[in-house]
Amino acid sequence: MFSLNKGTPGVRSYSSARQGQAGRRFRGVCVFRALAPKGVLPGKLRGAGRRVSIGRNLKRAEDVVEVVCCANTLEYKRVLEAAVEHGDAVLEVGAQLGDTTSLLRRMVGKAGSVLAVDTPRTMGKRESGYRGEEELEGVTFQEVTSVTDALQLQQLVEELVGEAGATVMALDLTTSTGNDLLLDTMALIAHLAPSQPRLKRVVVKSGAMSCHAGQYHSAGVLLCSPLARSALANQMARQNQVRGALLMKEEGEEAGTGSLKGVEPVVLCGVEVSEYRSCVDLVVREGDTALELGCHLGHTTAILQEAVGPPGITVGLDIGLGNVKLARIKHPSVSRFEVADAWNSAALIRLCPCPDVVFLDVGGISGADGLLEGVALVRQLVALYRPTLRALVVKSTCLQRLARGLVPAPVWLDRDSDYTAK
Ligand SMILES: C[S@@+](CC[C@H](N)C(=O)[O-])C[C@H]1O[C@@H](n2cnc3c(N)ncnc32)[C@H](O)[C@@H]1O
Repeated sequence: MFSLNKGTPGVRSYSSARQGQAGRRFRGVCVFRALAPKGVLPGKLRGAGRRVSIGRNLKRAEDVVEVVCCANTLEYKRVLEAAVEHGDAVLEVGAQLGDTTSLLRRMVGKAGSVLAVDTPRTMGKRESGYRGEEELEGVTFQEVTSVTDALQLQQLVEELVGEAGATVMALDLTTSTGNDLLLDTMALIAHLAPSQPRLKRVVVKSGAMSCHAGQYHSAGVLLCSPLARSALANQMARQNQVRGALLMKEEGEEAGTGSLKGVEPVVLCGVEVSEYRSCVDLVVREGDTALELGCHLGHTTAILQEAVGPPGITVGLDIGLGNVKLARIKHPSVSRFEVADAWNSAALIRLCPCPDVVFLDVGGISGADGLLEGVALVRQLVALYRPTLRALVVKSTCLQRLARGLVPAPVWLDRDSDYTAK
């Protein structure tokens, strides 16, 4: 399925002049992506000795830790039941009443250990201790001042299992820190995972992270895997159906059967210019309106213009006036080049109100750092353009790592069957 030596048939590859021949660059992309699509072979991503996780300066692509994202308690328990093995050392953060803790205790057996952590409670059922305390013999409960204090958690793990650290982390911060926990949970993983050398995976209960796991895709995986591409095509076709139904409703006709679920735009994250440009073929259709943010001299915008054809519109925006002036001269075929800041929503809506696809390649989020800014900007653009946006392609190392690390629980649970969801 994964070609190390040649490009994927049906997907054009692009490269900048600086990067040399397209074919050579594209091979590089495939080598980088030769691991596996998310959810296909999580077992192959296991293995001791991997350090690091989201948002870190990684030396190797293999260093991305798998984060299984669960939307609710049922998924959380199902994943933990399948993910935790006899002898594991589990760090559970957000143990609450100890329901999940009993499950973990059962899974790790006598050879394993569970460190269950939560903040002190003065009200409610926890006042009188954890429910089912007797059957949790062997579990170390620990109250901490903050469940997001990575250093304190690291010290507690070290006290319990030594420097070898935890093999699985189970994180449910919902009760302790609020409902939208994307950043809290991500920050905790980013700080804690590097100090756990044996860490196999992280299981998270978070609605926000679960949504992101379903939405973010690695462009490299898509470019290398026909199966993943067909799953993406299905996802976008579903968006179309839902949009069509909503449009009919607005126009007073009877709505179709599509639910609102599935209308979220997909986010494709790539690292190389060649990956970024190759995504044009994956998401752009003739007649589309395409927007590029951070168009520089307009090379990718011109490729977008070619893809949307004469019925389509392409807008290239850049913060640099000099770039925009040169782009206009170099690529007169492009509908419009303008100066704008990608963070200025009002300007974006004025210059390009209804894009079908957005290509995003701005400084600050393209490298290994800048995860917070990257996630925030993508969220902002998705919210701004949700009614029409089908796909957002972003060139960003940190977001690409995020996309590769996050696995939706249903995909992970279905990992032995065909790759269908991501
Ligand atoms: C790597 S270049 C883009 C290359 C271009 N996408 C291509 O494929 O040829 C990054 C561009 O982002 C622009 N940029 C940086 N910050 C920006 C911002 N906040 N809003 C818009 N453009 C920005 C820079 O001026 C620069 O031209």
